[in-house]
Amino acid sequence: MNAGHFITVEGIDGAGKSTHLEALAAWLRERGVPVLVTREPGGTVLAEHLRELVLHQAMDALTEALLVFAARRDHLVQRIEPALAAGTTVLCDRFTDATFAYQGGGRGFDGAVLAQLERWVQHGREPDLTLWFDIAPAVAAERLAGARAPDRFEAQDTAFFDRVRAGYAARCAAAPGRFERLDAAAEPAAVWAQIERAMRRRAWW
Ligand code: TYD
Repeated sequence: MNAGHFITVEGIDGAGKSTHLEALAAWLRERGVPVLVTREPGGTVLAEHLRELVLHQAMDALTEALLVFAARRDHLVQRIEPALAAGTTVLCDRFTDATFAYQGGGRGFDGAVLAQLERWVQHGREPDLTLWFDIAPAVAAERLAGARAPDRFEAQDTAFFDRVRAGYAARCAAAPGRFERLDAAAEPAAVWAQIERAMRRRAWW
């Protein structure tokens, strides 16, 4: 049996990735592809507990980085690796690029330590495709305004999200074959067209 593909979606808060994630899952299922939709931090009982802490509890940057990688480890072992091995395509709302963008870029935490944690936790596992919903922080902030009580990340200012965006741009530049940068400021239908193009280019299905 062929292993499933590992697809991640990334972008700053308010980029609109979650809506398109569901549409992408439906698009794949229509083609007969078995799909697991999941998210980080989260995806297992333990990792969802850790998510609550990371999103709402004050902590220093190293603690934050350790917790997101602890959640990732559990998620990989319990769900992602078994699904891929069984031939299921995994669609994950955020993964390690978010750690480099938010903890590395946004918080300014040491990228070399993150890279070490990535090696320990993932043993070389990385996404086959990453859809990066790129958008200017000011536009994303308008979309988020008044939506709900902000978590520890959504409450950050535009300068924080400028650094997060730069973090994503650096990850994209370092792995151009894996990344697809999408113009997420476009109308939803135009964003979807970019996603479909990116998927067809892969010719996996
Ligand atoms: P998000 O994925 O935006 O979920 P929702 O749509 O429910 O708000 O929220 C997760 C937050 O966690 C987001 O602000 C980014 C942050 N995050 C990190 O800081 N580091 C990480 O490694 C991951 C996966 C997420």
